Amino acid sequence: MTDITAIHAKYARLIDTSDSLSRLDDIRVSALGRKGEISMMMRGLGEMTLDEKKVMGPALNGLKNDIAALIETRKTALENEALNKALASETLDMSLPVNIGMGTLHPVQQVMEEITVIFSDTGFSVVEGPDIEDDFHNFTALNFPPDHPARDMHDTFFMVPDETESGKDVKRQTGKHTSEQKVLRTHTSPVQIRTMINRKPPIRIIAPGRTYRCDSDQTHTPMFHQVEGLAIDGDIHMGHLKGCLINFVSAFFENDVDVRFRPHHFPFTEPSAEMDVRYERVGSEIRIGQGDKWMEILGCGMVHPDVLRACNLNPDEHQGFAFGMGVDRLAMLKYGIPDLRDMFAADTRWLAHYGFSPLLQANLATGLS
Ligand code: PHE
Repeated sequence: MTDITAIHAKYARLIDTSDSLSRLDDIRVSALGRKGEISMMMRGLGEMTLDEKKVMGPALNGLKNDIAALIETRKTALENEALNKALASETLDMSLPVNIGMGTLHPVQQVMEEITVIFSDTGFSVVEGPDIEDDFHNFTALNFPPDHPARDMHDTFFMVPDETESGKDVKRQTGKHTSEQKVLRTHTSPVQIRTMINRKPPIRIIAPGRTYRCDSDQTHTPMFHQVEGLAIDGDIHMGHLKGCLINFVSAFFENDVDVRFRPHHFPFTEPSAEMDVRYERVGSEIRIGQGDKWMEILGCGMVHPDVLRACNLNPDEHQGFAFGMGVDRLAMLKYGIPDLRDMFAADTRWLAHYGFSPLLQANLATGLS
């Protein structure tokens, strides 16, 4: 308990003396982020006895809520301070001439188009699904058992009908997920389900789009982008999957890129793998395709028979592969963008620097016709 009081005091002091929003956000990450001190303590609850849990559970929850509230209050104060300062020092010259420059394509948009061009060349068409999904398409049909921890692992944003309650509380109150429970999709894989239910094989689609997880630090943003891929036919095997993805990375990085497939687990594919690309760091630059380090860029595997069955397909007649890749990470790697968070800050100077001319076709950029 003294531990908790001391930790409370430590963060209260840090929050109170933080003098910028970025410093405050660092404090939030170190306390409440995925690997934050308080989050790690909460994770430790699982190993405690029931009696210990009865004491420590509420105490840790209280600590977490207190610190979150202190951060929120300090944030508002800092924002007000910054606004007042800006109002006092900035002036607006209404007589300046209007400057309407041409906008640029965001690197994420550019990379999505590059990915689309590469896959269309091998017969994939583009489909889209809704950002607001239901539990059935996002989890159940993808073979996540009900109340499986993997659903929490995805740090899901649950949509709550009554705004006074948080999604997690509702889940706890009802004790189970209902298949109509609305969530912000945590991945683009639900588009696999929608496609298999609505189309007959052979299927070859990619599905680019926004995805959401409750996570925010230097390498995670609550909204990010993925491209899903799905191929279903009568005689598809792992060799097709590998060939397709090896072909993709070489075209995307415009280079013969060395890759490796590492065994992994996803509930909706079996076998499952992650694909890494070889890279090296030269100074602050990352060079893809050479060197002795490996970086994970996508998850993939053969569609699980249970998933096929959930979509009314017979696994003895149809099989296929699926993959999902993080678009933001690919854009950062290809175009040397150092910080993920800048991507979504809507700063026009950043866009002018990293953006692409809307008149430059993506297929020119990839060298494919
Ligand atoms: N949906 C997985 C993720 O978000 C990626 C994936 C897609 C893995 C398709 C296998 C097959 O991490």
